[in-house]
Amino acid sequence: MTTGLHHLLGIADMSKGQFLALLHNARELVEVSERALKKVPALRGRTVINFFLEASTRTRTSFELAAKRLSADAINLTGSSSSVTKGESLRDTARTLAAMAPDVVVIRHHEAGAAHLLARELRGCAVVNAGDGMHEHPTQALLDCLTLWEVFDERLTGDLTVAIVGDIRHSRVARSNIIAHRLLGNRVRLVGPPTLVPSQFADELEFGSHCSVHHSAEEGFADVDAVMCLRMQLERAAGGYVPTLEEYAREYCLTPERLEVAKPDCRVLHPGPLNRGIEISEAVAESNRALVERQVTHGVAVRMATLLALATRPGRSEIDA
Ligand code: CP
Repeated sequence: MTTGLHHLLGIADMSKGQFLALLHNARELVEVSERALKKVPALRGRTVINFFLEASTRTRTSFELAAKRLSADAINLTGSSSSVTKGESLRDTARTLAAMAPDVVVIRHHEAGAAHLLARELRGCAVVNAGDGMHEHPTQALLDCLTLWEVFDERLTGDLTVAIVGDIRHSRVARSNIIAHRLLGNRVRLVGPPTLVPSQFADELEFGSHCSVHHSAEEGFADVDAVMCLRMQLERAAGGYVPTLEEYAREYCLTPERLEVAKPDCRVLHPGPLNRGIEISEAVAESNRALVERQVTHGVAVRMATLLALATRPGRSEIDA
């Protein structure tokens, strides 16, 4: 299905039609990774640059695999291996990359808005936001929704209640998922201590009436279809927002006992990496409720669909010239 996307910068920039088109395309691409020969020629001769200025295992690897499984030429540039370490600005880096005529640049950056800046500078080239500061992580929301779609089928569009628990204040994953579920018509419960999920948070950030805030895990998880645990982001100072990690775990760590109030078939998502024993117990992480590895598998398919949509979008040269 045609998505009409020129870049993928955030779920906030997408229509429901574009979001669902990308999900449909991704679902069809899952089987490529299940073949013995995991390669299709769709992007032969196209170039994808993965430019990661923050640590990543899942996102960087899956974008590289996605490009290679579509037969594109994939180049990986990290912060430590780029001239950013010599003080080159993001704007100058963008101009340098543009001069090499890539078709798609994928960027992860610690600053919110970095992908938007790159999209303005890189004329003729599509940009994908692989996570920008505390702002958005759109392909994560897409792969989370693809995973929920596989389990809940047509209930994905308007019949799900999803709890997101943890460090919502610092989470680009939460933000992209909240906006995605608003597009899909689902209800979202934001669960955590007041320091990480302020009472007025949903209103202040204009997340909409589909979103409610709960400081009690028992109340937040009651009758939900899915719980998404967020990683405690120690590198973004989440540690300073709770007295101790042990205390946080006592109130909010997802344990089998805490899940008893959820629907009997409630499933558990986590974007990874997992802090076992802090936001998710070993027992839940290893249970058949947990969809963590399926999320990773779907990450490759979502990133294939994204690269395919952007590198082959119709009228590309007229739009970007
Ligand atoms: N979920 C996620 O973005 O993981 P990485 O930081 O490993 O890419």
